[in-house]
Amino acid sequence: MKIGIFDSGIGGMGVLHEAYHRLPDNEYIFYADTDHVPYGLKTTQQIKGYADEIVRFLIDKGVDAIVVACNTATSVAIEDLRAKYDLPILGMEPAVKPAVEGTDKKRIMVIATPVTIRETKLMNLIKRVDENHRVDLLALPNLVTFAENEIFDGDQVVEYLEKEFQEYDTTRYCALVLGCTHFNYFKPLYRRFFDDSVELIDGNAGTVHHLADVLSLTAINNKTEVKFDSIEEMLSMGQTKYYASGKFVEDTKTLEHYRRLHNRLEEVYGLK
Ligand code: DGL
Repeated sequence: MKIGIFDSGIGGMGVLHEAYHRLPDNEYIFYADTDHVPYGLKTTQQIKGYADEIVRFLIDKGVDAIVVACNTATSVAIEDLRAKYDLPILGMEPAVKPAVEGTDKKRIMVIATPVTIRETKLMNLIKRVDENHRVDLLALPNLVTFAENEIFDGDQVVEYLEKEFQEYDTTRYCALVLGCTHFNYFKPLYRRFFDDSVELIDGNAGTVHHLADVLSLTAINNKTEVKFDSIEEMLSMGQTKYYASGKFVEDTKTLEHYRRLHNRLEEVYGLK
């Protein structure tokens, strides 16, 4: 199967990385819309336009299914895309349901982009599942910019998070839902604010299992490392082709950047 995965930027690479673990015997196209990142600060109409263009691009490349590896684009555009195109299109939304269903009944914090937080899709989900009003929402748009600039730790990010979390008593939480795919890169950092009992919940594994179901593939529980020592090694995995806003990525500098991102993802993979 040939699978297209897209995001505004590098966040969706976490879904691709998860797919390497679970569904390695497929072909992948990864599309980062680097000309338009961050989506989280754009209008609904703009994001709809970008998503439509990307889906058409991926269909032209002959994909069997598309994963919108972006909570923001999903919240705005998924219904239109599904109505318009005749192939499986999977979206991502903050994993509020598993968080609410967890055994620990303390509060739940959902971090996402401003667009995801203001859209009705997330509001409706919360209305449906958050019977006891335990969910708090916090927009962290700067994390997207930090991630795009490969700044995953250090004073700038820590100070930003300190400022954003300061009005919350983080001891009152049992789960932190990472409602933006860019936020996975920062997993170790959240531990400075939330202790080990707080579960970090992202949607990557759920999305890949859903993809397997939709395409009738068998997902494997692969415990082997997915780490790349060279660009060649990275490109041979899933015969992946990378595109940045429609341009085929072949320059060493960008590919080296992607290789580092995969290795970062492997480092934080599975941190709960
Ligand atoms: N990675 C995206 C998400 O999951 C959006 C980041 C952005 O472009 O603002 O929401």
